[in-house]
Amino acid sequence: MGRYLFVTPILAGTKDACLQPRAERAGQDAPASRPRWTVKEVFALVRSDLQEVEKELALQGSGAIPPVAQISQYLQAGGGKRLRPALLLLSSKFCGYEGPAAVPLAAVMELLHSATLIHDDVIDKAEMRRGRPSINRRWGNHLSVLAGDWLYMQAFSMALEERNFKILDLLIELTQAMVEGELLQFNGLRRADTTEEQYFDLAYRKTACLFSACLRLGATLGAKRQEEEDALAAYGLNLGLAFQLVDDILDFTSSEAKLGKPVGSDMREGKATLPFIYLLKRLPRDPARRIARAFERGEFPDALFAEILELAKQSGALEAAQAKALELAQRAKRRLEEFPESPYKDALLSLPDFIIERES
Ligand code: IPE
Ligand code: IPE
Ligand code: MG
Ligand code: MG
Repeated sequence: MGRYLFVTPILAGTKDACLQPRAERAGQDAPASRPRWTVKEVFALVRSDLQEVEKELALQGSGAIPPVAQISQYLQAGGGKRLRPALLLLSSKFCGYEGPAAVPLAAVMELLHSATLIHDDVIDKAEMRRGRPSINRRWGNHLSVLAGDWLYMQAFSMALEERNFKILDLLIELTQAMVEGELLQFNGLRRADTTEEQYFDLAYRKTACLFSACLRLGATLGAKRQEEEDALAAYGLNLGLAFQLVDDILDFTSSEAKLGKPVGSDMREGKATLPFIYLLKRLPRDPARRIARAFERGEFPDALFAEILELAKQSGALEAAQAKALELAQRAKRRLEEFPESPYKDALLSLPDFIIERES
């Protein structure tokens, strides 16, 4: 890894160069006068292109043999935020690109995302996704694995149309990093001694490198200088880390109705996410040991989850995790400081707020 993605480890602290703005200005946010856009307004900027992306996704899936075509159609109809294609489109427009490659590449990123979600749900034995039975629940593991493989290859076949080795290199590196994320996660299941650094390394591979690649691809299409491309990629990386962290916080605090997937899943699946790591650090020794043992044994009756949730609130662990997400969102924004003003810059600067405040 390392040519187009940032070399790990991605550390939670202040040491990591790629996460740091050149002149760190703690607590300083975008200028107060800047208009804050709603998420609707942000998406409106790329609405017509996103509609083209939907057509492209439908077309790509329809070419497959059954049941991949049905799985692909089911997945698309289930919705999803379409955050990754929106990021690529915003980035390319922000970088002045108005050509034909942005829509297909945005579809490529959504296809890659879809493939990883299908495989992730098989690995996690997840039953619900986007408010509906997961693909593995409806079609079983065998067909889900094959459908995921097919979608990966379809994404690469679409990307190949651009005849651009840099794009292919980046996508290969990205896909390998995401698979490594799932591998590391699997190896680290039920480890109550997981560190904050390990957590962020995983969040980087699982989620943030895909966000980062969307921004970098936009900059590549806009033929931006290396420095600008790196700044946009670092914005995406911090945004992606914040996004995964908020997803993990919502797993404690939200509801299945809002999220479209059950809450409390991470602990039941044996994933030591940051709120849990912070909780174990804050608890006195005895309750910390009791909870760590239950976690390691995979015993999670509802009453224990309720107790952990209460402790996570009382101890300030959830608040600390939310503060970390805010810090990452601010780091993301600071990476855009040097760019000229534009509506796309306002939109990109509004997204981190949406991501940390989101409830679904
Ligand atoms: C889910 O991503 C996987 C994570 C990175 C937590 P999203 O929450 O963006 O999924 P959809 O596409 O909107 O369903
Ligand atoms: C999300 O992993 C990142 C992926 C690569 C799919 P999670 O396991 O936390 O995602 P959810 O919670 O199932 O959406
Ligand atoms: Mg999962
Ligand atoms: Mg999750």
